Amino acid sequence: MPVIYHSAGQTFHLYNPYYSYIIKLLPDGTPGQLYFGPPLTHRENFDSLLELRDRPLQVNCSPAWSCFSLDSVKLEYPCAGTTDFRRTALEAALPDGSRTLEPRYLRHEITPGKPPLPGLPATYVEEGSEADTLSLLLLDEPTGLQITLRYTVFANHAALARSVCVQNTGAAPLTLTRAMSFCLDLPESDYQWMEFIGGWGKERTPVLRDLAPGVTSIESVQGCSSAQENPFAILKRKETTEFAGEALGFSLVYSGNFLLQAQVDSWDNTRILGGIHPEGFGWVLYPGDTFTTPEAVLAYTQSGLNDLSQTYHALYRSRLARGEWRDKPRPVLLNSWEAFYMDFDQEDLLRLARSAAQLGVELFVLDDGWFGHRRDDDHASLGDWFPNSKKLPGGIAALSAEVHRLGMLFGLWFEPEMVNEDSDLYRAHPDWVVQTPGRMRGVGRNQYVLDFSRQEVVDNLYGQMEQVLAQGKVDYVKWDMNRCITQPYSAALPPHRQGEFYHRYILGVYSLYERLTHRFPHILFESCASGGNRFDPGMLYYAPQAWCSDNTDAVARLQIQYGTSYCYPLSSMGSHVSVCPNHQVFRTTPLETRFGVAIFGAFGYELDVTKLPDQQREEIKQQIAFFKEHRSLLQFGAFYRLKSPFAGNIAGWMVVSPDKTKAIAGEYKILTQANAPYRRLKLAGLDPHALYAVNGENPRYGDELMQAGLVTTDSTSGRSGQPEPAQGDFSCRLFYLEAE
Ligand code: GLA
Repeated sequence: MPVIYHSAGQTFHLYNPYYSYIIKLLPDGTPGQLYFGPPLTHRENFDSLLELRDRPLQVNCSPAWSCFSLDSVKLEYPCAGTTDFRRTALEAALPDGSRTLEPRYLRHEITPGKPPLPGLPATYVEEGSEADTLSLLLLDEPTGLQITLRYTVFANHAALARSVCVQNTGAAPLTLTRAMSFCLDLPESDYQWMEFIGGWGKERTPVLRDLAPGVTSIESVQGCSSAQENPFAILKRKETTEFAGEALGFSLVYSGNFLLQAQVDSWDNTRILGGIHPEGFGWVLYPGDTFTTPEAVLAYTQSGLNDLSQTYHALYRSRLARGEWRDKPRPVLLNSWEAFYMDFDQEDLLRLARSAAQLGVELFVLDDGWFGHRRDDDHASLGDWFPNSKKLPGGIAALSAEVHRLGMLFGLWFEPEMVNEDSDLYRAHPDWVVQTPGRMRGVGRNQYVLDFSRQEVVDNLYGQMEQVLAQGKVDYVKWDMNRCITQPYSAALPPHRQGEFYHRYILGVYSLYERLTHRFPHILFESCASGGNRFDPGMLYYAPQAWCSDNTDAVARLQIQYGTSYCYPLSSMGSHVSVCPNHQVFRTTPLETRFGVAIFGAFGYELDVTKLPDQQREEIKQQIAFFKEHRSLLQFGAFYRLKSPFAGNIAGWMVVSPDKTKAIAGEYKILTQANAPYRRLKLAGLDPHALYAVNGENPRYGDELMQAGLVTTDSTSGRSGQPEPAQGDFSCRLFYLEAE
């Protein structure tokens, strides 16, 4: 059993082959945190790690304990108003107007497996033997607030899943104003904090800084997890590299407002808190009511950042993503957006579809522009999910039938959470728009947000979408979301419950996803939010892939996909070959580079292939054939970052098959230099003793390829006029390795 409780020492030891996590009940029954790190030999107690000091300015819990203050110990779930002055995980407006909470140990349960979180996305197990879950129940006696801290230890992942359930077992209502998913107190502060920030077209850029006394945080209050700050952070040691050293990961399985925060106190402890952002949050609990926080997934490694990432990749690919498409090879798709934008008719679509089918494309996706009375630009029709009769006289069913006849699957774009003023839906239900009465009403991309905290709104969208998907024989849905929430308010909630709006909104989004994925289990869902504005683990639970960024430029994508890979698996990152000059940055890159970047993701095309010269169409045919041959390696292999595109002119990464017999490495050169340095790409993850042919030639042992590296010096290092491949700007080389 990976969770052991010793009653004499009141100690819980949670462990697996990758870490130990130790909790001890403190003298007053508050759960204290003793350790999170490499596995420790089990003992009945670890009291040697408990430090109780009498510090200057300390306020002790009571006169009975002269040196016991919550401020100077490490805690599992610190609450407001106590002797701990650091940031807290739980705060509530209590019936008497006070805010102090002192929950103490009540009882605990250790169960095999992992229970689901009601209405929320979460990691799961398929067999009880895959994990054990500790539920630690605490009670705040004066209010009857019962708090259950949940910890799931996976047998085969270096990850710990945490969530919290708060129940009002008292007699009076109260309002939670802060309910974080986890707290972790570490006894040191010499870490670096790595976060993933950016914006539209430049999502998930890694930023690293030394932790310093005080608070460091990433957060979103936009109503979605956001392109600006991703709900994921890493703590690493200064010396930790991609291949060695200690690192801890913190990932929130949530798509709404979030906060992830590190606080270094005056004694060099580091407190990490993560969960729903407390700003504007207030959740009313009537007697008997329960509130469940989103899940947080913590990961631990001593073997560098690639190893930490691989823990998340494996867990999220196999035990967060669900449904038929979790383990199925993802189809090569062609998306109509950059080919036509909204300017098309059925004939244009079929011409493109026929051409795509000839090239080997397996899924034809009709993007924005197909619905409502007048979706010719972004001023109208969001909310009206019926086919536009001028563009599609035979409706979705006829188009989908034609696409199926061509031997491809058929996919369709929706933006269910949004509405334009010029739409039948808005005319019928203007009160369904999110807006604060008497305030300005922010508008983004000419659209408004529908109040998904309301059941009737979710029901309406379900009804509309169900009809199109059922009648149209649709195999894939791209679910977009192109503006954030402002002036938050729900006309359906009473004033004292308005603090519930943001979270209820996301619960509404999750519930629509749940109903649709249940009703149409064969449909592959891809989430999208102006590219990567809601790229988070919560979405991956419903949609196993997500459009990584609207920026399809290969050079920009190198950085975006590299940054995204710190937490998210390749199978989740929608990435397409688009036309050049590129539509976002106007750069021209070779077709082979666009391909060489896009195949490290959920692969597809997004351009009008009918307009390409024959030679490029032939090249695409070969690209698709190559991808299909190696698709399962790319989708399920272990991914390694080799050279960062943020660090220099050369970038590299690779995937290795689970049995280490096959691998594909990509090396990318941004700008060509004259008389360039010698170059090697040190590979990773191979079997040191296996002999690998590289692109069918010249077999070398894995140890040589990893320790000495693959020589990739190209002709720019010699005199001019020595033609060799990959010598220009924005060039790419792919190396396919196969063990003999
Ligand atoms: C967003 C998406 C794009 C495309 C357009 C359609 O910007 O990110 O991929 O679907 O909407 O309007």
